[in-house]
Amino acid sequence: MKPLMLNWRRLCAAVLLLACACAQAAPGRERLSLDRGWLFHLGDIVEPPIKGHGESYGNAKAGNAGGAAGNEFDDSDWRHLDLPHDWAVEGPFDPNANVSQGYRPRGIGWYRRYLQVDPKDRGRHFELQFDAIATHATVWVNGNVVNRNWSGYNASYIDITPYLRYGGETNTIAIRADAEAMEGWWYEGAGMYRHAWLVKRNPVHVVTDGVHATPRAGKNGQWTIPVEVTLDNSGKQAAAVTVEVTVFDPAGKQVARRSVAARLGVLASSTVQVPLSIANPALWSLEKTNLYRIATRVLQDGEALDEVSLHTGFRTIRFDAAQGFFLNGVHMKLQGVCIHQDHAGVGVAVPDSVWEYRLRRLKELGVNAIRFSHNAPAPEVLDLIDRMGFLVMDENRNFNPSPDYMKQLEWMVKRDRHHPGVILWSVFNEEPVQATEVGYEMVRRMSAAVKALDDTRPVTAAMNGGFLTELNVSHAVDVVGANYQVPDYDRYHKAHPDKPFTSSEDTSAFMTRGEFKTVREKNLIASYDDDAAEWGNTHRDAWEAIATRPYVAGGFVWTGFDYRGEPTPNEWPSVSSVFGIMDLNGFPKNAYYIHQVQWIKDRPLIHIAPHWNWSGSEGKDIRVMVMANVERVELLLNGRSLGEQKVDPYRMNFFNVAYAPGKLEAIGYRGGKEVARTSVETTGAAVALELVPDRAQLAGDGRDAMPITVRALDAQGRAVPLADAQVTFAVKGGGRSIGHGNGDPNSHEDEKGATRRLFNGLAQLIVQTDYAGKDAIDVVATAPGLAPAHISIPVKAVPEQPYVAAAEAPLTFVRSWRIAPDGDQRPDPNQQLAGFDMNTWGWGSPPMIAGAEKPGRYHLYRASFTARKNLADGSGQIHFAGIRGKAEVWLNGKLLGQKDSYALAALDLPLPAGPGKRDINVIVEAEPGQASGIEGAVSITPRLLAK
Ligand code: GAL
Repeated sequence: MKPLMLNWRRLCAAVLLLACACAQAAPGRERLSLDRGWLFHLGDIVEPPIKGHGESYGNAKAGNAGGAAGNEFDDSDWRHLDLPHDWAVEGPFDPNANVSQGYRPRGIGWYRRYLQVDPKDRGRHFELQFDAIATHATVWVNGNVVNRNWSGYNASYIDITPYLRYGGETNTIAIRADAEAMEGWWYEGAGMYRHAWLVKRNPVHVVTDGVHATPRAGKNGQWTIPVEVTLDNSGKQAAAVTVEVTVFDPAGKQVARRSVAARLGVLASSTVQVPLSIANPALWSLEKTNLYRIATRVLQDGEALDEVSLHTGFRTIRFDAAQGFFLNGVHMKLQGVCIHQDHAGVGVAVPDSVWEYRLRRLKELGVNAIRFSHNAPAPEVLDLIDRMGFLVMDENRNFNPSPDYMKQLEWMVKRDRHHPGVILWSVFNEEPVQATEVGYEMVRRMSAAVKALDDTRPVTAAMNGGFLTELNVSHAVDVVGANYQVPDYDRYHKAHPDKPFTSSEDTSAFMTRGEFKTVREKNLIASYDDDAAEWGNTHRDAWEAIATRPYVAGGFVWTGFDYRGEPTPNEWPSVSSVFGIMDLNGFPKNAYYIHQVQWIKDRPLIHIAPHWNWSGSEGKDIRVMVMANVERVELLLNGRSLGEQKVDPYRMNFFNVAYAPGKLEAIGYRGGKEVARTSVETTGAAVALELVPDRAQLAGDGRDAMPITVRALDAQGRAVPLADAQVTFAVKGGGRSIGHGNGDPNSHEDEKGATRRLFNGLAQLIVQTDYAGKDAIDVVATAPGLAPAHISIPVKAVPEQPYVAAAEAPLTFVRSWRIAPDGDQRPDPNQQLAGFDMNTWGWGSPPMIAGAEKPGRYHLYRASFTARKNLADGSGQIHFAGIRGKAEVWLNGKLLGQKDSYALAALDLPLPAGPGKRDINVIVEAEPGQASGIEGAVSITPRLLAK
């Protein structure tokens, strides 16, 4: 006996060692893309009402969600797609749909995704992350509702560890996205339009957004980062760990490190303080975006259990009531724009690289500040902001201090507080209660919630009035934000000279790109900056009001880009706005040049409007606008001087020119010397198409996307400003078209189709690489009567972003069984069980084994299932992975097949063709004195696949 016991001990020790080795070898944190492999159904899926008692009972149980939310729903005919996805932009326009949403029906959609989890990962913590879903989203995992998120602009982080199945069994994620719900009065898109992730990590880990690292300036170049790290332990043992935070400078050199011990209870979380000091860091500014990396590790016995990195920057900000805004002590006027989040061709499902393009266009325009109106942007956008150098007003969507909504505000602050680019938290935009005590009390609470998470930035609210009443929202914020209200700027400042003040929104002027005549009946608005909304101002008036008042910190033009919806002052057939400085593609309107010469000071700039193609208007006066940031401008037509003017930096310069075809040229002078020159020329008719890619190459990662400018050239190779050719695209090779646009607010063309008309000479095609894309993307553009254009954009093979493969060919598992009491007599397989009887028969799912000690030899198991359509046509089979004992299988009251041996074995029985739900009864007969039952999983599989 003794030696045997010893052996057992040894064996146990060896097993334990093995377990430890496994635990140590387990990888740390993995953040895997979950963008690929979704199934999509447009429209709601409503299940028939539940009426029976048994069904009601079952429906109320964990894991039993029915219909498309459940595990076994037949989605075999759903569409396959990858994220990001906006279904609203795919649909046609409808004059009866909501004007604010751009006449785009939105509706309800369902997504499903399958995944398999390696048994080696058992014990790790699994979190699903959805960066945003429009608009109300409910998420189920394996039939359990795991999250409800009622904002289309914030992320959900969902711990799915408890519900997971490991090994061959498939896990089901189901999402119902209700985009009937609206949170805005602009185009909001529909569906899973941002990224999705699966994060696997140690049960002892840093929670998502759990590192608070916001630098603070001290004296004499001494800075501190009072780092706080929030940890969580979902494991089965308490943990004693060390939290180590290391700071790396922009060159990757370590500049600070500190470790702090922490103890974590089981299923408990804890926040650890790790204060750090850094002397003379390289400051972050708009020109030098020095970013420091903060690496946080959780260590146990020297092994890293978890590791997470984020970046931050060292900079000071200050809003002064008299002088406006200072960055690192240097005064800076906020030259800002408000932007929504949709782009031509893709709706709100904007690839990260198209965001880079959009921000690059804003940089070229001279923008230094962005208000993401009226919601927090995608996280990748804020990373770009920090890298490219912009200041951001980060805005909360829903104004409501009740607990559910306060969580949305807190999420934004927690996620974004490490970004040096963020300089203001905005709690709302234009709320009717803003002038009242109610508004004040609501903001007071929301502002306090923000301060509790980050007291390094001021809180603002974008008020369109109401700031002059006795008690209002302005009393509860640090910086007063005024939307429009120019006539009240001075009045407010006089009454409150100690309160910092900025325009939070201004302008709202109208312009259709490339149009220089207003034609009301065609919803076209000229680009001379004459027209603005009643509550707004022209671009020039708005900026003059801001620029000439030192106490106004700056402005945020409504808007940087056109967006779908809100086609003010028009309605149908206009489907997108005309407020933008640029159109929906990022093509400049005339407002672009007005602002560029006002905002860019470090180099001479000069522009002329309009184009010079006015055939039929020979001899008639054309109004010419010259925009320049120099001292004087001279205009010449075909080499003949039309006179000089002193530059008016706010109003711009105007000339009336009798039209003659040829070359209209403007020269800019400083100190009497020519410093800038530009011209517009009368072109000939279009003869050829041209494709101009935005960048020289693409990364073959399935995400990289690039806008290509499409235009028409005359025989001399000059772009024809009024060309309106109908262009057809063919895209081949390592990528595909993901949409196109032309900036025409009245266009109803399909944004995903093969053709697009040029609007005032331009269109944009967006191509994206395939996953593992390589070689090149070839684009051919053709149009009747024009020479075609062809470009080949090289695609560089790059390592794949780690991702979760979609589980293939999901099977129907028969999981929920009733088990009749055991007996010594063979039971009637079709015996009745009353619908209200929840208890005489037991409940189970495989493995369902009755031990040898059980008296009865016969066991009856009952379940029902619906086979997926592709297997209900006679090509499927019922696959029992293992039955111990002899068995009879009855389907819908008829004997389907038998197992004649007692030994544990698989059993496959052909599934007769037929639709709908089927009832299955299995009698298992035990070998005398032996255990018996349905031991392995029961599934409906294709016949050929079954082993
Ligand atoms: C503002 C509002 C914006 C937009 C704009 C149009 O009042 O904040 O979202 O609607 O008007 O002028």
